[in-house]
Amino acid sequence: MEAVSQVSTNVPRLEGKVALITGGARGIGECTARLFTKHGAKVIIADILDNLGHLVCEDLGDELAFYVHCDVSNESDIESAVNTVILKYGKLDIMINNAAIVDEAKTSILDNEKSEFDRVISVNLTGAFLGTKHAARVMIPAKKGSIITIGSVSSSVGGVASHAYTSSKHAVVGLTKNVAAELGQFGIRVNCLSPYVIATPLAMNFFKMDESDASSVYSNLKEVALCSEDVAEAALYLGSDESKYMSGHNLALDGGFTVINPAFGLFAKPK
Ligand SMILES: NC(=O)c1ccc[n+]([C@@H]2O[C@H](COP(=O)([O-])OP(=O)(O)OC[C@H]3O[C@@H](n4cnc5c(N)ncnc54)[C@H](O)[C@@H]3O)[C@@H](O)[C@H]2O)c1
Repeated sequence: MEAVSQVSTNVPRLEGKVALITGGARGIGECTARLFTKHGAKVIIADILDNLGHLVCEDLGDELAFYVHCDVSNESDIESAVNTVILKYGKLDIMINNAAIVDEAKTSILDNEKSEFDRVISVNLTGAFLGTKHAARVMIPAKKGSIITIGSVSSSVGGVASHAYTSSKHAVVGLTKNVAAELGQFGIRVNCLSPYVIATPLAMNFFKMDESDASSVYSNLKEVALCSEDVAEAALYLGSDESKYMSGHNLALDGGFTVINPAFGLFAKPK
């Protein structure tokens, strides 16, 4: 009975918790920040889009949210974002490495520049590493915490996005597993959360689509559409005590996309 009441939408599931969300100025990160505050968390948004980030925090209210400028690829930015959280709230319960970028969609590796590859890796992988490292720095003494890195279907299959993006998203799963192996001894959980396509600015720029095109993208699971709120709900689960024994996991939120091969099979053909 107790477990049932815990998942009731009326019960705040993050009461008293403090969450730092990178890339929370828009898209999935913003949506997660909004849901987390509804569930009683204090949220710190760390982003490079200062105007948008401030607007989101103003909308959520000073009591619940504040904004820090932070380029996740820069260690001193991440370090000071985490330090600011500790100064303000005295602890960090949930770290969400959500910030990411994607490079231009190019169909030949020969057209891929090393500088572009490095840029994507520096945000998507090095940024997640730095966020994880500095979250761990303050979570280890507290002997608790939940670190969540947003992966992608490109964390487990090839052919969906660019070489750089796919490499970075596969790599964050490796990082997650390795850090989960280390931080389990301190009671800290480390997981990945890997959604399918959602019409955020990142996906719309990469796939050159608008929101209406997004509904026509192939999906294994019909009759429902994935949205940022669904990712926020899964992050809520991974951040809350309901997932107290989950660590080292890559939680796919993809309607089964990554466990089937739509090109060849017994069942309905892809549309
Ligand atoms: N939208 C999708 O289809 C999709 C699918 C799977 C996974 N994801 C992942 O979800 C996460 C959120 O992406 P989104 O779709 O909301 O994209 P988005 O572009 O809407 O949001 C990304 C946020 O990250 C911020 N950011 C970028 N570079 C940064 C840096 N160096 N430092 C700090 N912040 C930075 C941006 O300013 C932006 O606010 C990413 O990790 C992305 O890879 C997205």
